[in-house]
Amino acid sequence: MGRISPETITAVEQATDIVSLISEYIPLKRSGKDFKALCPFHNEKTPSFYVSPSKQIFKCFGCGEGGSVFGFVMAMEKVSFAEAVRALAERAGIRIEEESGPPAADGIDKERLYRANDWAAKEYEKHLWEDERGSRAREYLAQRGLGEEVARRFRLGYAPPVRDALLGALGRRGGAAEDVLEQAGLVLTGAGGERYDRFRGRLMFPIADVRGRVIGFGGRTLGDEGPKYLNSPETPIFSKGISLYGVDLAKRAALKLREVFVMEGYTDVLAAFQSGVETAVATLGTALTTGHVRLLRRFADKVYLVFDADFAGEAASDRGLDIFLAEELEALILRLPAGQDPCDFLLEHGGEEFQKFRKGAKEIFDFKVELASKRHDLTTVDGQSRALDEILATVAKVPAGARRELYVARNALLGDLAWRLGISEQALRERLGRFKKGRRAEQAEVGKAGAKRPREERWLIESLLAEPHLVETAATHVSPEDLRDADLAAILRAVYEAARDGHDIAVASLAAAVGEAGLGALVVELEGAGARCSGHERRVADCIAAIEARRRKATRAHLRRQLGEKARQGNVDAQNRLLREIQNGL
Ligand code: UTP
Ligand code: MN
Repeated sequence: MGRISPETITAVEQATDIVSLISEYIPLKRSGKDFKALCPFHNEKTPSFYVSPSKQIFKCFGCGEGGSVFGFVMAMEKVSFAEAVRALAERAGIRIEEESGPPAADGIDKERLYRANDWAAKEYEKHLWEDERGSRAREYLAQRGLGEEVARRFRLGYAPPVRDALLGALGRRGGAAEDVLEQAGLVLTGAGGERYDRFRGRLMFPIADVRGRVIGFGGRTLGDEGPKYLNSPETPIFSKGISLYGVDLAKRAALKLREVFVMEGYTDVLAAFQSGVETAVATLGTALTTGHVRLLRRFADKVYLVFDADFAGEAASDRGLDIFLAEELEALILRLPAGQDPCDFLLEHGGEEFQKFRKGAKEIFDFKVELASKRHDLTTVDGQSRALDEILATVAKVPAGARRELYVARNALLGDLAWRLGISEQALRERLGRFKKGRRAEQAEVGKAGAKRPREERWLIESLLAEPHLVETAATHVSPEDLRDADLAAILRAVYEAARDGHDIAVASLAAAVGEAGLGALVVELEGAGARCSGHERRVADCIAAIEARRRKATRAHLRRQLGEKARQGNVDAQNRLLREIQNGL
């Protein structure tokens, strides 16, 4: 498949009206120049999802989802940028001119890798179900309690214990096909130049991406040779840090329930599906990454991390926790009885018992406290101090301007800690401030924020504090992410949130909301400056215009650069990811 030319993308964009597009999915209501709706990407009772016909963008001030027509289709249909362009082209009756051009600069055609993996999966499936040698793998499945139905659904397979199960099946296709298998990580070349299958004598678990394409494999040994699990190496289409086992199948159910279970391994996911729990995924033997969390966020608002109660499980979840805080995705830790992995538990007690366990799931903060209390001797001052630092290090990960609930949970924790440890809350907050200073220094390095705050951003907030009825207008045009100054962005977010929740934008409550981030004084300062000015309506309009102009300019420059780079590299998927990010930032 060739690349889509920048001209085509522009043509499709121009031919598509965002209001009529989004109206095909959800009912829109006019609100001034814009349209409003209940956000389709998160649960809400009052509309914070805006569509702007003049800018041809959408934006949800509740969950932050936003972008162009392409971004909407990507988010709604869970497709890549290229697929969104194709879908909209079809809708507009535009024929896509594919640039046939030379193969990608790195000489690898991803489509061929997908095909190679799919072909290999079929070969392995045949060996599992039809090959005499596959009986070993079938016996393992039976003994583990996993039935044929779920095994077929996940396309499990068997790699016979020979060096040429795949290579031999290539038949007369020859060298070029072997090269592709090697690029897909299915075949290795020995020192003498001879090629051989990577996976031998293993039960094979095909790993799919969110669209169900096979991108790699996990292979479990059925004997003693090699590691227990062997995975495909990183390839142009496979990266463990952004892949989750079962994501293609779990996505469907998770989108409805907006929640997902993250388990330890392949067999856990199979057992979950077999027990009727169809919202299970697993990492591929690695710790959770930001990439995983962002993937999860696309179809869940709540994530249960399921572990058996042994230490390894605790350590694994411990590492992943801070990422959930930083990414503001709600995570709960669900521990099963000691000695039972999720697979054992599910097969022994069934899906319903498992679901009941959710009630005992622990919030991140509570879990963290429990862990720290176990690790350190709280009867000594030194132990208390260490435990406290460990907890505060996590608490400090809550980003400035995070969701209100996170702050509420955090404040409750601080109060609770103070009570438990017999320390004043004030002392606790000061100590927390030390952890945060480290973070804020980092942020300042990156954005040089704070040193000199953009005038229009400052003025905007000054006027909003002086004339709260202008907040609604501002919110339809400027999102906190538009601001370059991180502190002002955090304050603006708090202002919007207060307005949305129907709270008045009293300086005292605002200062309290952002006070944790050390911004309370700034709010008071802005409020004072605003009170000394007049003509706020005009001022807000001017600031909005300035920020919008800046955004349009930045976006155009960005897009042009991206498209140029994309054309040069022919690296469609990587560029698509970037484009999506840009769109989200519109
Ligand atoms: P487990 O050791 O719990 O394996 O590893 P399992 O899937 O329950 O298999 P059985 O029951 O022993 O047959 C959990 C997960 O950790 C990763 C795999 O993703 C596995 O599914 N893992 C484990 C590896 O990547 N490599 C290993 O050597 C072991
Ligand atoms: Mn296990």
